[in-house]
Amino acid sequence: MKSYEKLLLENKAWAAEKIHDDPEFFTRLEHIQTPEYLWIGCSDSRVPADRITGTQPGEIFVHRNIANMVVHTDLNLLSVLQYAVEVLKVKHIIVCGHYGCGGVKAAMSTKSFGIINKWLRNIKDVYRYHREELEVLDAESDARLNRLIELNVTEQVINLAKTSIIQKAWKEEQRPDLHGWVYGLNNGIIKPIFEMNAGTHIDPLYEFDNL
Ligand code: CO
Repeated sequence: MKSYEKLLLENKAWAAEKIHDDPEFFTRLEHIQTPEYLWIGCSDSRVPADRITGTQPGEIFVHRNIANMVVHTDLNLLSVLQYAVEVLKVKHIIVCGHYGCGGVKAAMSTKSFGIINKWLRNIKDVYRYHREELEVLDAESDARLNRLIELNVTEQVINLAKTSIIQKAWKEEQRPDLHGWVYGLNNGIIKPIFEMNAGTHIDPLYEFDNL
């Protein structure tokens, strides 16, 4: 059996088990999707959003990219965000990073990695904003990397708040609340780092007054 064939086999077993436990499982989910959460996470295979939060199909709307970034020119992210906020009407958005993130590590180095340099530059900017705090920490241990991972999650939450999509939803419907979390690969525990409740004010330069 080829390795990918195992996935199809496992899928059949999973579907059968679901129906066994709950005969209406798929018919119920087929026509309606009402997740309460949008998850913006890292593409890292070790951080599966639903597994680590114990959520079922239908409960989390998911977007993943390298180092869980919210880049204001990323049409993919913005499309997911708009759909989640305006159509699915999610109540919470979670940006979840993880300690030991290879994307953040790469951004801290001075190596060129090709196309991905352009993506990593957004993380280098986060480093530059927080250079003073970061460079007090030991570069040899993981302390500096892990603090940058926390700061990056915080900055990505703030980037969400800078979008007209979020500001409009905050003004009109007092939702969603924004959460910045970091997952520990070593212990499986998620640590809440930062939170912005709906309506929180940000730097006025980024607040639109005509929404
Ligand atoms: Co990562």
